[in-house]
Amino acid sequence: MRKTCIIFGSTTGTCESLASKIADKLGIAANDIINVNDFKAEMLSEYDNLILGTSTWGAGDLQDDWYGGGLKILQSNDLTGKTVALFGCGDSASYGDTFCGGMAELYDAVKKQGAKVIGSVDADNYSYEASAAVINDEFVGLALDEDNESNLTDERIEKWVEQIKNNL
Ligand SMILES: Cc1cc2nc3c(=O)[nH]c(=O)nc-3n(C[C@H](O)[C@H](O)[C@H](O)COP(=O)(O)O)c2cc1C
Repeated sequence: MRKTCIIFGSTTGTCESLASKIADKLGIAANDIINVNDFKAEMLSEYDNLILGTSTWGAGDLQDDWYGGGLKILQSNDLTGKTVALFGCGDSASYGDTFCGGMAELYDAVKKQGAKVIGSVDADNYSYEASAAVINDEFVGLALDEDNESNLTDERIEKWVEQIKNNL
């Protein structure tokens, strides 16, 4: 069986709790939920599927901890044969012109290194102005907004997990 981990970066704990929710739905064990601060290049040989999560900070930037080494690991290793799914959280009301933009940096990195990316979602189901994480009217991964639309989170996760689970 292909092994899956979740790697997340989170400043105030929002993306971290979303990572746990997603893990629950996919039956991923707590050991395989990794804070990006603990992510090491050697772990890439252990996992076939990477679910990568980030909140968005600054103006459309990745969550800070990703810049501490995790992004570099993705950018400097061959990811051919890996399947990657992305999720992100942001605030579409206060930061509607960079909503969940941080996912774009992860997307670009893993695509460039040969990973297969799954789990894009229809952007029409969100209220936002612009996002670097939207390509052809789809977010490159699951966009979540705990600041304004937390009532939609469970349903969004449920639907997304159904979409990706048979491809992991
Ligand atoms: C200073 C600041 C900048 C932010 N910038 C963005 C942004 O550009 N785009 C976005 O979607 N959300 C932005 N957010 C919202 C956070 O991404 C959001 O609150 C998220 O849920 C925080 O998750 P975390 O606790 O896992 O880091 C920003 C929040 C703050 C306080």
